Amino acid sequence: MTTAVDERPDIIDVDDRVREGSTSQIQDMPAYREHWSRGEADPSGYWLAQTKQRVHWRKAPTQGLEGDCWSVCDGPITWFADGELNVTESCLDRQLAKRGDKVAIVWEGDEPGDVRELTYKELHAEVCRCANALRELGLKKGERAIIYMGMVPEAAVAMLACARLGAVHSVVFGGFSAEALRDRVRDCGASVVITQDVGKRGSKNIPLKATTDQALEGEAGVEAVLVYQRDASVEVAMKAGRDHWWHETVSPASAECEAVVCKAEDPLFVLYTSGSTGRPKGLVHTCGGYLTWTAYTHAVTFDLREDDVYACVADIGWITGHSYIVYGPLCNGATSLMFESVPTYPDVDRYWDMVARHKITIFYTAPTAIRVLAAQGPGPVRKHDLSSLRVLGTVGEPIDPVAWRWYYEVVGQERCAVVDTWWQTETGGHCITPIAPATPEKPGSATLPMPGIMPVLVNEHGRPMVGPGEGRLCIAHPWPGMARTVWGDHARYVMTYFTTFPGFYFTGDGCRRDADGYYWITGRVDDVLNVSGHRMGTAEFEAALIAIDELAEAAVVGYPHAVKGQGVHAYVVAQPGVEADDALTAKAHEAVRGSIGAHARIDRLQYVPGLPKTRSGKCMRRILRKIAEGEPDKLGDVSTLADPSVVDAIIEGAKSFG
Ligand code: WT7
Repeated sequence: MTTAVDERPDIIDVDDRVREGSTSQIQDMPAYREHWSRGEADPSGYWLAQTKQRVHWRKAPTQGLEGDCWSVCDGPITWFADGELNVTESCLDRQLAKRGDKVAIVWEGDEPGDVRELTYKELHAEVCRCANALRELGLKKGERAIIYMGMVPEAAVAMLACARLGAVHSVVFGGFSAEALRDRVRDCGASVVITQDVGKRGSKNIPLKATTDQALEGEAGVEAVLVYQRDASVEVAMKAGRDHWWHETVSPASAECEAVVCKAEDPLFVLYTSGSTGRPKGLVHTCGGYLTWTAYTHAVTFDLREDDVYACVADIGWITGHSYIVYGPLCNGATSLMFESVPTYPDVDRYWDMVARHKITIFYTAPTAIRVLAAQGPGPVRKHDLSSLRVLGTVGEPIDPVAWRWYYEVVGQERCAVVDTWWQTETGGHCITPIAPATPEKPGSATLPMPGIMPVLVNEHGRPMVGPGEGRLCIAHPWPGMARTVWGDHARYVMTYFTTFPGFYFTGDGCRRDADGYYWITGRVDDVLNVSGHRMGTAEFEAALIAIDELAEAAVVGYPHAVKGQGVHAYVVAQPGVEADDALTAKAHEAVRGSIGAHARIDRLQYVPGLPKTRSGKCMRRILRKIAEGEPDKLGDVSTLADPSVVDAIIEGAKSFG
């Protein structure tokens, strides 16, 4: 189905609105309702019009959406399929005329005040140099490059340089272990890895190059490793013929590089994320739809203005960094801050100190950071002048009303809009969120769907619900930013997202809708953990644990944690005759760290005599969850258990965690 472009005169060209101060188009609730209705009545027309205003196309698309949540079984959904573009022309080249000397990236290093600024002109030149260097190293259109870096501007440069060549980047968060890195290198068949000597976080060095070396041992597929030097005082090994310094390869390269023209549906990047089962999946985002969605949502949700100083303090290793540090902001010509450190270094007022020094107007962080900082009281916030702030965002996990109010009252001084943005790696960008300043907020609610998003709550019988109630959150209709497939495994994509509730995209989240139609995300309903906003699969923990010879079985569940949102509770069964001592416990922790990374930590390790299994041998995780949640009196029906006495022993043992 292809629909003609919506040429309605009330869609104002984005550049005209820039002059007026806002690129949002949605400033009040009537405008929101009008846009949402148009997005529902004619999705292709609405998004074709939006993309032409917000994205620079070499060949403008005439096709909108092709496919739906049923046809996805036969092949990926497409948006703008006949369009051609290179996303870096939207993010860089076309900004040069009006914004060449505007700061594109302002970088705040680990040490306060260690600041670098790159204008659009400088960023453009550096991306071209890096693209030329990568081409020299053999990277071609369609090939994959892994980026394993900390929060330095060069990480964004590397992403854009890949995009410049039509190559596919896959950023791996710098906290992941060598084993996790190796899995991702293999899964996407990367030929190039881009890394740095060390990362910096809270005055500590993260040995990124050494971990890369460990991951690549025996990996013949990787032909070149590009290494950015963050700290010349640190010695790292360089492998002759394979490893190349950034300053010797990128810096001398030409600052001009013709962009490789891509099809709208060519992959832009692969980003791995955890699911309920198996190894992490490489979600594939494509050029045209993803850029349209991130540019649109970044401008609309935050009410972006030309002179904003926008700061998203997430890491580039997660989707938030991709969409809301790099692609959305740069496509919108914004000044985007990149932060290398942590919120508590050197002190708990680091964010507020940065807001004051950089005169940040839009600040975007995660509930877990807000809870950590709220625990310090208002003192550290009040030390600083936060009058520049206009919009405050949160993302990654449900925000409880107490933390919300603290953010609104203490940080925002009851003057700023708070946008609680619900979305996922899979959705590419915001899906349910307030739109500043239009949407009236309710503390703890992600409020209302973006134009183009048609949420559906499904009850336990798999039926769509009408009106208020609580169910599983699905989305009924494709939107431009959705991931198109799982790298190398479309069947897994279909299986994971489109078979639980046929005809709908299933998010994995539970959700309540109130009488005003507002959405309240209640958290994951599958075996995915969200610890401090980090998404991890219980299956990944379990695989790491049972790989230990001394352990026979393991089951991992989440439980409510006051600061981290969720904590990790591991029930493990030792092999017969093995003593559950401190050495074994240390080994278990080390196994998880080695298999996933430093950000994956078991909070409670409990040795149990056995797992609660049904007579057919299925582990009843529901029981383990209830015990971990401290509600052993609410186990429900346990009549199918093979050996109920196991449960008593587990409850008794869990008491030690209080
Ligand atoms: C899961 C997705 C979205 C980018 C960062 C995380 C949870 C995310 C919210 C929110 C309640 C939220 C959901 C979702 N989540 N934002 N505002 N309120 N829950 O991306 O790693 O793909 O995780 O994070 O459970 O499914 P992700």
